[in-house]
Amino acid sequence: MDEKKPWGGRFRRSTDQRVESFTQSVDFDQRLYAHDIRGSIAHARMLAHVGVLSDAEADAIVAGLSQIRGDIEEEVFEWSSALEDVHMNIEHQLIKRIGDVGKKLHTARSRNDQIATDLRLYLRDAVDDTVKAIQSLQDVLLGLAERELSTLMPGFTHLQAAQPVTLGHHIMAWVEMLERDLQRLTETRRRINIMPLGCAALAGTGIPIDREFTARELGFDSLSTNSLDAVSDRDFASEFIAVGALLMIHLSRVAEELILWSSEQFGFVDLGDAFCTGSSIMPQKKNPDVAELTRGKTGRVVGHLMATLMLMKAQPLAYNRDNQEDKQPLFDTVDTVLACLEIMEAMLAQVRFDRRRMRAAAQQGHSTATDLAEYLVTKGVPFRDAHEAVGAAVRYAVDHDMALTDMSLEDLQRFHPAVAEDVLARLTVEGSVKARAHIGGTAPQQVMQAIQSARERLERNRQLTHYVAQGDPRGTTQVG
Ligand code: ARG
Repeated sequence: MDEKKPWGGRFRRSTDQRVESFTQSVDFDQRLYAHDIRGSIAHARMLAHVGVLSDAEADAIVAGLSQIRGDIEEEVFEWSSALEDVHMNIEHQLIKRIGDVGKKLHTARSRNDQIATDLRLYLRDAVDDTVKAIQSLQDVLLGLAERELSTLMPGFTHLQAAQPVTLGHHIMAWVEMLERDLQRLTETRRRINIMPLGCAALAGTGIPIDREFTARELGFDSLSTNSLDAVSDRDFASEFIAVGALLMIHLSRVAEELILWSSEQFGFVDLGDAFCTGSSIMPQKKNPDVAELTRGKTGRVVGHLMATLMLMKAQPLAYNRDNQEDKQPLFDTVDTVLACLEIMEAMLAQVRFDRRRMRAAAQQGHSTATDLAEYLVTKGVPFRDAHEAVGAAVRYAVDHDMALTDMSLEDLQRFHPAVAEDVLARLTVEGSVKARAHIGGTAPQQVMQAIQSARERLERNRQLTHYVAQGDPRGTTQVG
C-alpha cells in the first residue's frame, strides 16, 4: 500500500519494498493496540490539562481513538505494513478521520517512549493474568493434595525408590514451586509499573508536560527518572521472561512426573482419555501429549530469555531499533505460559491415581530401612552403628530374596539386640510417614496443616493481587 510515511519529510525517495517488509512490526505489534490507544488517550488528556491542546481538541482525539479501537475490535480496521507499526497505523487513521487536530496527538512524545509505555501496560495485564492462572492451578493442586492426603507412594532420589511419602506431600511440593513463581511475578510487576512516557525520543521534551498526570491516568506507580534509560531499557521484559522460564521449568517437572507415572511401568496415574492422544499405527497407545508438549514448550521460553538478554547486550544508549525484536519472544512467552497453565490445570483437575499400585510400589526397595535405623537411635544406639546394623539386615533380606518388612522379630533381633516388639509398627509404610510429623514432613497430619496454611496464603494473595490490579493502595503490602 502506498501510504505517506509520517516521518517522510526529509526523504526524497520512497522506501524500498524489501526494507519496508524487513522493518515493519505491525504484523505482530498490532496486538498492543488497546494499550497503545489507552496511552494515547491519557497523553491527549494530559496535553489538554497543561493547555497544549484545547479541551475540544482533546475530546476529538479521544473520540477518534475510541472509534478506531472499536473498528480494530470488530476487525474492520485496515492495517498497513507501509505504516510500519501499530503506533503509526493508529495515528495515521486518526488524522484521516478527524483531520488536522489528529496531527497534534504526537506532541511531546516519540514512538520510543510510546512503545516502552505500551509494553509496560501490556505486560502489567499479562502479569495479572498469569498470577490468576497460577492461583487457579494452585486451587486444583490443593484439592488434589487433600484428596490424596494419606495416599502412600515411593519418594525418590536419583529416581530410585528411597522412602515412603504421601502423595499429598508430593503434590504440595508442586504448590510450593508455584508459590515462588507468584512471589517473583509480584516483585516483577513493581518494576514493570513505572511510566516512561514523557521521555520522548531520548532527552525528554521542551513542551511543559505533566508526567504525573499521565501516570495517574494510566495507573502507573511512579515515573522513570532518566529519559535515556527509560526509552532503551527492556529489563522488565527480560525479567518477566526469566520468571516465566522458571515457571515453565516447574511445569515441565510436574509434566515429566506425570509422564513417568502414567507409563505402564509405573502405573500410578490415569491422565484421562480426554487429555491423551492415540497413535496412528499402534492401536493400544494412549500418549501423554499434553504433558509432553508442556515439557517441550519450556525450551521455547528459555530460548526467549536468551534472545531478549542478547538483544540488549552491548546496546549503546539510548533507543535502538534492535528493541523491536523484543516483542515476539515476549508475546510468545505470555501465550505459552498461559496456555500451559490452563491446560495443566484442566488435566490435573480430572486425573485418577491408582492408590493400590502406588502403595505397593512404596513398599518395595526396603523403603523403611531408614526407619529401622531411626528406631534403633530411639533405643539409644548411635546412628552410625544403627546404619551399619540395618545395612547388614538389608543385605540378608536381599540375599534371601525377601523384603526387610518380611523379616520376623527374631530375624531382626539377630542384627541388633535393641530391637523389640514395637519395631514392627515402625517398619510399615504407614508407620514410616506417620513418624515424619515435623514442619515440612510427609505425615498426613502435617501435610494437612501445610494445605491449610497454603490455602490461607492463597486467599491473602488473591486479595492483595486484586488490590494491586485495581491500583488500590492496600495492594502495596508484600505479597507472599
Ligand atoms: N516499532 C518500534 C519498536 O518496536 C517502535 C519504536 C520505533 N522508533 C523508532 N525510532 N524507529 O521498537
